[in-house]
Amino acid sequence: MSLPSTAPAPAAPRVNPLQRIWLRELGMERLWLRPAPVAARVAVDAQAVVSKTVLPVATSVQAAPVAEASPPPVATAAVAEVRAESRSEAPAAPASGRQAIPASILTRTGPPPRPEPKVVADDTASAPRIPVAEAVKNANLDELREQVVACTACGLCQGRRHAVFGQGATPTRWLVVGEAPGEQEDRQGHPFVGRSGQLLDSMLAAVGMSREKDVFITNVIKCRPPGNRNPKPEEIAACSPYLMRQIALLKPERILVLGRFAAQTLLGTDATIGNLRGRLHSLKTEEGTEIPVVVSYHPAYLLRSPSEKARAWQDLKLAAQQ
Ligand code: URA
Repeated sequence: MSLPSTAPAPAAPRVNPLQRIWLRELGMERLWLRPAPVAARVAVDAQAVVSKTVLPVATSVQAAPVAEASPPPVATAAVAEVRAESRSEAPAAPASGRQAIPASILTRTGPPPRPEPKVVADDTASAPRIPVAEAVKNANLDELREQVVACTACGLCQGRRHAVFGQGATPTRWLVVGEAPGEQEDRQGHPFVGRSGQLLDSMLAAVGMSREKDVFITNVIKCRPPGNRNPKPEEIAACSPYLMRQIALLKPERILVLGRFAAQTLLGTDATIGNLRGRLHSLKTEEGTEIPVVVSYHPAYLLRSPSEKARAWQDLKLAAQQ
């Protein structure tokens, strides 16, 4: 997009408040402040991106603090500026005739670069929204996967790299349900691919099962909560219809639920893992069929507490009983 000829050259410095303090201490603050015409063009481009997001501008990014000497811009331009600012922490090159700050000072004392905020682009933003529970009703597995991948029903879509639908054999004998994608799963778009996943695969192999042939693996929550925090009630509520539809479509013989969070969510209880494991539960589907459910420890917990593996082995044998 070209820059409108009437666009004023902004006087905002390309330094953040922390850098400004350092520059002040070095007596170089005034030397560094100058108009930055390039920033104006970036701001207009970024504004075009903002207008394409599906989320309200105010909540679509974690806004970085604006440099304290910025002129008061109009609201949307302010957000665009913040976005452009956060793409690069490197200050623009000083204009000729002015004394440059040695790069070594800036790089040595500068704060770590901020991660680039994610913009969820969605050309269907103006299309009417259908509630997830309604949208999944008649979806087959492929359609359901597409819905999950494109889902913006809760705030977790803002920080994800991939929504993780699930992976495994279809038709399936067992459905394994974990909590939510972790960092590796978010990167790769598949469930249980990190160290927990390796342990899960070994546990399944011990009872002659594999995700290639007999098991479909998924999670209660399809997008990674930031920092692996516990999912919030509204995120669980937004995501649950996907899991319920997966169960209805896959019709597994058994459901193996891993960890307290997944067990409590799926069984609608506050009971502890110690209380829930070691016996068969039952989940009634929309069609009225009852699926046996076995609760066991989450593999991540087993990695921290290997002495509990003996109990997990009992759980697997219970699940494998006909
Ligand atoms: N932990 C989970 O609960 N699910 C995954 O997919 C990975 C780790």
